[in-house]
Amino acid sequence: MKKIAVLPGDGIGPEVMEQACRVLKACENLGEDVPEFELEYGLIGGAAYEQHEAHFPVETHKICERSDAILFGSVGGPVAEADKPKWHKCEANSLLSLRKAFSFNANLRPVQVYPELNHISPLKAELIEKGIDMLIVRELTGGIYFGEHRRFEKEGKRFGSDICEYDEDTVRAIAHVAFQAAEKRDRRVTSADKANVLDSSRLWREIVSEVSAEYPAVTLEHMLVDNCAMQIIRNPSQFDVLVTTNMFGDILSDAAAVLPGSLGLMASASLNASGFGMYEPSGGSAPDIAGQGIANPIAQILSVALMLKHSFGLMDASDKISAAVTRTLQSGFRTGDISQPDDKVLGTAEMTDQILKELSEG
Ligand code: IPM
Ligand code: MN
Repeated sequence: MKKIAVLPGDGIGPEVMEQACRVLKACENLGEDVPEFELEYGLIGGAAYEQHEAHFPVETHKICERSDAILFGSVGGPVAEADKPKWHKCEANSLLSLRKAFSFNANLRPVQVYPELNHISPLKAELIEKGIDMLIVRELTGGIYFGEHRRFEKEGKRFGSDICEYDEDTVRAIAHVAFQAAEKRDRRVTSADKANVLDSSRLWREIVSEVSAEYPAVTLEHMLVDNCAMQIIRNPSQFDVLVTTNMFGDILSDAAAVLPGSLGLMASASLNASGFGMYEPSGGSAPDIAGQGIANPIAQILSVALMLKHSFGLMDASDKISAAVTRTLQSGFRTGDISQPDDKVLGTAEMTDQILKELSEG
């Protein structure tokens, strides 16, 4: 039996999580190696604030601690209410605390464009015809996010300062994650940095190069982050594994997230050195469509697939979920975010019904 901490959060979080949990429970019938999943629900984000006046309450921390993996929904509220205490710093308080509490140093963000959805990608057909299948590996516990943050005054002027620091162990750890992932893929790593300006990036480049010597079958290319941002749009097919710092990874992964045409399709995994992981959709809480039953459940369902693969080594069950999603899309089923004018649009639960049907038949 495996214990899953389920943190639905805010906005569309609860409704897509409900569907993802149906898929998770359905996986129990996929094979003898699949254990039973016991779900323990916890509050996070604005939903937690309402009851505990904290975005990541102690109670939720405890639930995560006694679980084998964390399934996370989404957090945050409407932009217009951003100053209310319930929403103030909600995303950062929830996510950064979780990352820190469990030392999730590696953030894996797979970016794929489904050929059947090529037409909803904002890129021109000729830029994506070769296919896009990249894995962004973002360092998640170091860099400018976790350096000293400071506001101060000097000579009557207001200052703000955030220190960007990396030590060699942190860089080495994420480099290994990237090379090991590449060994199972197309064996190419691109490392994005700003080594023409920053010392932290020069260290990054040095260590990534050192680590690459241990992976002779994998090729390494260093790329400056500004060029990399351009390449993600101009020629995204060139990338296999893209490894980068916390801050650059935050930005580049949002740029890459545009390629599939909807954030509702993208899942991500955050892992620590001992393999404990948290899985979540890449999109936000989408408060504008929350509660209507129209959100795309695919990102949350693919988070389950990532969890089965990375936390439990259930490759077969994980692949079956991904394949069921692909076949559902191939059959023409769409939620609103990925639909075209003549498509028949399904709601969150109906889309999941189709995926479950494919899963049981596949
Ligand atoms: C992300 C988010 C977070 C980050 C925010 C909400 C703190 O943008 O997961 O990419 O910057 O890491
Ligand atoms: Mn981000």
